[in-house]
Amino acid sequence: MTWPVNVRGARLGAAAILAALVPLSLGVGAGASGRVVYQTTRHDAGTPNSDNVTINPKSGAVVSYGDSAITYTVPSPALANLGKALYMQNCASCHGTQANGVPASGTNGAYPNLVGLGSATIDFWIESGRMPAADPRSVQAMRRPPRLSHDQALAVAAWINSLQPSYPAIPSVNVKGANVAAGAALFALNCAACHTIEGDGDALALGTFAPSLRHVPATQVAEAIRTGPGNMPRFTGNLSDYQVADIVKFVTTEIQHPRNPGGLGLGGLGPVAEGFVGLSLGVGLLALLGYWVGERDRSE
Ligand code: HEC
Ligand code: HEC
Repeated sequence: MTWPVNVRGARLGAAAILAALVPLSLGVGAGASGRVVYQTTRHDAGTPNSDNVTINPKSGAVVSYGDSAITYTVPSPALANLGKALYMQNCASCHGTQANGVPASGTNGAYPNLVGLGSATIDFWIESGRMPAADPRSVQAMRRPPRLSHDQALAVAAWINSLQPSYPAIPSVNVKGANVAAGAALFALNCAACHTIEGDGDALALGTFAPSLRHVPATQVAEAIRTGPGNMPRFTGNLSDYQVADIVKFVTTEIQHPRNPGGLGLGGLGPVAEGFVGLSLGVGLLALLGYWVGERDRSE
């Protein structure tokens, strides 16, 4: 008699934790730091339309922009010549010498146009080892050890950006002021459906998959959020830079360094969330017990 009650109690617990956790953590996020975290405006969409823009006095070009949560930096134009040479060696055979893409008949996909993609996109695909592509006909490019160095990635991004300056530039995330609990709630809402709440990743439709997030550096997490690689949606104005920093902090701490290895895995959502599971389980059990006792009373 107790076994089915337990099972149903656990299900109730799972529903209750989702209902209870989200508004709770959002409240903490806004209150603890005293900033308006959950307001979303174009301000935060990875464009230089923000409080803090640095302009090169000579050329008038944007050098960096952003706020205290994320600074976006445009790779130095001085790197463009080196970047062009590296591009011709490593990329032009597929994406074309003008970087404007090559339609590839007979293959699964065209080689995409790179002109007009922000330097965050170029940097992400090179630094995550996806590019240069190992198998251009694969359904989805795989994360691999990068073949170009960080500086070489910046140089290629600088050259492509010189063809048509574009945003978002390369993010540098300041997680110091970020809120892990708020990041957990935002991750549950925006990311867990594909990547799972533990960040282990999962299969999606048509042979594609959402990868594990266990070994992705902070910059690449922010780049993925802002640029939406492959089949991942791009999050722009709907997540502020403060919210992106909260998510990055959650991914690079709780997901990548869980504090309860071997225990009951709850994505390391923290004592509040885990307390809620206990509470919901307990309340669920009590409710079912009451129900069961009531049923018995009536039937006897
Ligand atoms: C062997 C062919 C090949 C080479 C070489 C190659 N790419 Fe690609 N690239 C592709 C293909 C095919 C895609 C399509 C996307 C996919 O695989 O998911 C792609 C996608 C991309 C994307 C994503 C574009 C988008 O719209 O999201 C970027 C950025 C990119 N490549 C940059 C580069 C850079 C920079 C280099 C050189 C360092 C490079 N690629 C070298 C074949 C190649
Ligand atoms: C609709 C499903 C979906 C959602 C929602 C989603 N992603 Fe993704 N994500 C993907 C897919 C698919 C890829 C792989 C793209 C590729 O390589 O072509 C990916 C790739 C990534 C990567 C790169 C991982 C690597 O190994 O290089 C990161 C980081 C990432 N996602 C973080 C997030 C975060 C954080 C969120 C929430 C703000 C999120 N994703 C929401 C599907 C999703």
